[in-house]
Amino acid sequence: MSFRTIQWRDDKVVMIDQTRLPAEEIYNEYADYQGVAQAIRGMIIRGAPAIGVAAAMGVALGARDIRATDHGSFFREFQEICDVMAGTRPTAVNLFWAIDRMKRMAEAHRSLPLPTICKILIAEAIRVEEEDLAVCRAIGRHGCDLIPGGATVLTHCNAGGLATAGYGTALGVIRAAHDAGKGIQVYADETRPWLQGARLTAWELMKDNIPVTLISDNMAGYFMKKGEITCCVVGADRIAANGDTANKIGTYSVAVLARENGIPFYVAAPVSTLDLTLSHGDQIPIEERTSLEVTHIKGIAIAPEGVAVKNPAFDVTPARYITGIITEHGVASGDYLKELKALAEKR
Ligand code: MRU
Repeated sequence: MSFRTIQWRDDKVVMIDQTRLPAEEIYNEYADYQGVAQAIRGMIIRGAPAIGVAAAMGVALGARDIRATDHGSFFREFQEICDVMAGTRPTAVNLFWAIDRMKRMAEAHRSLPLPTICKILIAEAIRVEEEDLAVCRAIGRHGCDLIPGGATVLTHCNAGGLATAGYGTALGVIRAAHDAGKGIQVYADETRPWLQGARLTAWELMKDNIPVTLISDNMAGYFMKKGEITCCVVGADRIAANGDTANKIGTYSVAVLARENGIPFYVAAPVSTLDLTLSHGDQIPIEERTSLEVTHIKGIAIAPEGVAVKNPAFDVTPARYITGIITEHGVASGDYLKELKALAEKR
């Protein structure tokens, strides 16, 4: 891939600024955990696996900068840093998964000198990033088998290299099918209000010379009814034990349209996106973002001042609309309760 979403470099966290794409490819450097937390909140970095990596690296930066010299004070401050990271965005469970992983690593080495614990945490954060890349490639391999030759694949939002450490989940499946010579093309929903599809998915697929056609969200049904869409592949922010899946707002509409038109609808996600503590999707917390994302585009008002606005960032697609959930360990389809548990146990 010709860009790096996030990396640990020279004791700083470097991220491509996703608020500036596609106009400018700019990399921001963060030297402290507060900056990383702000970058997650402000969507400089977004996408469930990518914010998991960012949170892990933010926690490592924060731990490194703790001035305490005794273990008790160190671990108290460490917990505060983890709490700040956990408060950035509520829906994608990968964020909490990554923070828990960092906490467990610190606890497991509690008896070691503090500088050693900090080094271990930095190494762990880098490992979270490296593993995510390998996981996405495995998702791509499993998903590739489900994509017929010559398919037109509809995707929503950006579940690509930009939403992960690289390669992507939904776009990982698409990349793998493209690389396998299946001659596929992609229809990318623009994904209002934040335009992840238009700004990010179109950008990264064009960079990789994967044929992509941009459509506005309300065109998906039109093309499905005309028989132009072979299948849908989307990412996920949190998947409940029964397979109900939270993903970018609008995903549910795509799934219902796909069912109506007899089109397979796949979710691609790492097992770190599974939240088996939740029995069903109604329990998934849905982030509500600023009304400015709906009333303005690039700072320009597109709605009358003072209009009432709602802006939920995610919706939940009931499992019954999902043909298969593609993970790095294989594909679940049918009895999600049983199959997702089995896939999670392969962790
Ligand atoms: O608000 P965002 O841009 O963070 O939402 C991203 C999505 O909904 C993605 O589809 C999801 O995180 C999967 S990313 C591999």
